[in-house]
Amino acid sequence: MAAVLIDGKALAAQIKQSVRADAGTLPRKPGLAVVLVGDNPASRVYVTSKRKDCEECGFYSEEYALPAETTRKQLLDLIAELNGREDIDGILVQLPLPKGLDEREVLLAIDPAKDVDCFHPYNVGQLTIGTPVFQPCTPGGVMEMLKEYGIDPAGKRCVVLGRSNIVGKPMALLLLHANGTVVLCHSKTPDMRELAASADILVSAVGRAGLVTADMIKEGAVVIDVAMNRNGAGKLCGDVCFEEAAAKASYITPVPGGVGPMTRAMLMKNTLTAAMLHQGVK
Ligand code: GUN
Repeated sequence: MAAVLIDGKALAAQIKQSVRADAGTLPRKPGLAVVLVGDNPASRVYVTSKRKDCEECGFYSEEYALPAETTRKQLLDLIAELNGREDIDGILVQLPLPKGLDEREVLLAIDPAKDVDCFHPYNVGQLTIGTPVFQPCTPGGVMEMLKEYGIDPAGKRCVVLGRSNIVGKPMALLLLHANGTVVLCHSKTPDMRELAASADILVSAVGRAGLVTADMIKEGAVVIDVAMNRNGAGKLCGDVCFEEAAAKASYITPVPGGVGPMTRAMLMKNTLTAAMLHQGVK
């Protein structure tokens, strides 16, 4: 079977266009503040692309590039100031934070109504019980892709590889809420390869190039590759051995051009949602 390519880039462009149109009807532009601490080069790239996305969607945006030596108090003071700002609807603190800053404490300090990453325990709780205000960006983006391509998780066996707070856990929850039968695999799962091979929908979010080989894919499965790795030659790639997987899958996401652009589009959608809530627009 030659798999259909799930075009995340095209779908993300469509979502951003619709976000821009909706943002244009609001009394005030949605505003996003992005906070970057330290000089992680990958994070710098992400932050720059978020600024571009904000411009595309007609949002107001602010960027805070703080040195790695930033103290706990300085960061918490900045978050408190942003929490109180009328023109800022969303606050994103880029992860990972440098050593010495407590990620949990920092995420807890963000006003849940401005938590466009959906990382605050309040929003994680809402997501867990199935009443989320914001969609976690990467897993939410995956669900949008499935919807766009007419793939309904209901009654399907969904296997998620990786249990991070950012992707694996919320991904499992969204698939569960969509009535999938979910198996969440992690580093201590002894039979991960066999479980993956039983999946109707396989989502890999581990971060290891070459992890998912053809023997881990059921004929006709939907394969979603969330990872962003560099292979030996320095080329961007996911967890999935793309060519051999595409020969067995029914649908597959490329890397790059798959889930990545969808994560960014969902951030814009969440910022719009926050702006609508703050401006009393349904
Ligand atoms: N680091 C890697 N992915 C993300 C993300 O989606 N949001 C934030 N804040 N940091 C990240």
